[in-house]
Amino acid sequence: MNKQMKATQKNNELVDMFSRTISYLRLSLTDRCNLRCIYCMPEDREEGLKILQHSDLLTYEELLRVIKVVVDMGMNKLRLTGGEPLVRRGVMDFITALSKIQGLEEIRLTTNGVLLKEKAVGLFEAGIRKLNISLDTMRPERFKEITGADLFEQVWDGIETAVKLGFEIKLNVVAMKGINDDEFTDFARLALKKPYQVRFIEFMPVGKNSTWDKRYYISSTELKEMIGTVGTLEALPGCRMDGPAKVYSLTAADGSTGRIGFISPISHHFCDTCNRLRLTSAGTLRACLLHDHEADLKALLRSGGSDKEVRALIKQTILDKPKGHTLAEDLKTPDQAHCQGQMSRIGG
Ligand code: 5AD
Ligand code: SF4
Repeated sequence: MNKQMKATQKNNELVDMFSRTISYLRLSLTDRCNLRCIYCMPEDREEGLKILQHSDLLTYEELLRVIKVVVDMGMNKLRLTGGEPLVRRGVMDFITALSKIQGLEEIRLTTNGVLLKEKAVGLFEAGIRKLNISLDTMRPERFKEITGADLFEQVWDGIETAVKLGFEIKLNVVAMKGINDDEFTDFARLALKKPYQVRFIEFMPVGKNSTWDKRYYISSTELKEMIGTVGTLEALPGCRMDGPAKVYSLTAADGSTGRIGFISPISHHFCDTCNRLRLTSAGTLRACLLHDHEADLKALLRSGGSDKEVRALIKQTILDKPKGHTLAEDLKTPDQAHCQGQMSRIGG
């Protein structure tokens, strides 16, 4: 069999029932976090929050083994998420080990930025070039209200450090009416000044402790209208690497330009082009963020499962990937959503 045929055969294993090629693994390294964002791990609902024990997490050895199998199947992109991935002990050595896996072309990281200032150089040296950083406000007081921690300056310094080092950065802003909507135009202006893309994410009802409420929801269509007051938005040609975001250029009257992304899981489903598989911090494979069905990979690994069996379970999970979700704008309460799992465990 020649190289080309081998590659095709490999990729076939990654094609699901709806002809989507699942080329991208999101790995939640831990469900722990050093922040308590109101939409994810709200402090006042902490009682209902289940934090995993260390022994519940897959070990780095187990993770490396699984990722080698996944890469051998043809996946070439990995995103590390959490909780906050940088709080897991030993994460830098793990990333260095990951970067040595042949065939794994890209490792990306989603972080809240709290530890970025101290870890940015190490991350760059380990081979990471792309970061998604969550930042919902540029006002220190509000940052504290949203995240429970007075760490805006530290996060901001982390972002600036990462920019200077040359990381390609996307800032993730969860759009919440009545909470940060008076800053959307400020964020748009930030995109005009900085080399990073600012991405607005529609607030989703995920997890049974979710604070999601219809009143906070604001659609990308409304967002675009607001951003349109800062400059002209023009859709950029579809770029697959941008994942679910629709990316626009923003041009202001003074000629400055920036890039703005909109992620619209509620108003514009992107399920038909979804290329993701998730490995949760509890060691389960999850084909869809918004469907609670999961396959117990950890049980298989810990009962002596072979690489062949691991591969078969991954393949089956891909085949079981649902066509999409049915979240809609007329949703009224979070429990109407079919995802009760915690975002911090699943990894967003
Ligand atoms: N709705 C929308 N975005 C969310 N995120 C976390 N929880 C939610 C939610 N309920 C975002 C985080 C992070 C990304 C992985 O997902 O801000 O940037
Ligand atoms: Fe993909 Fe599921 Fe998200 Fe839809 S809801 S985009 S199918 S992961």
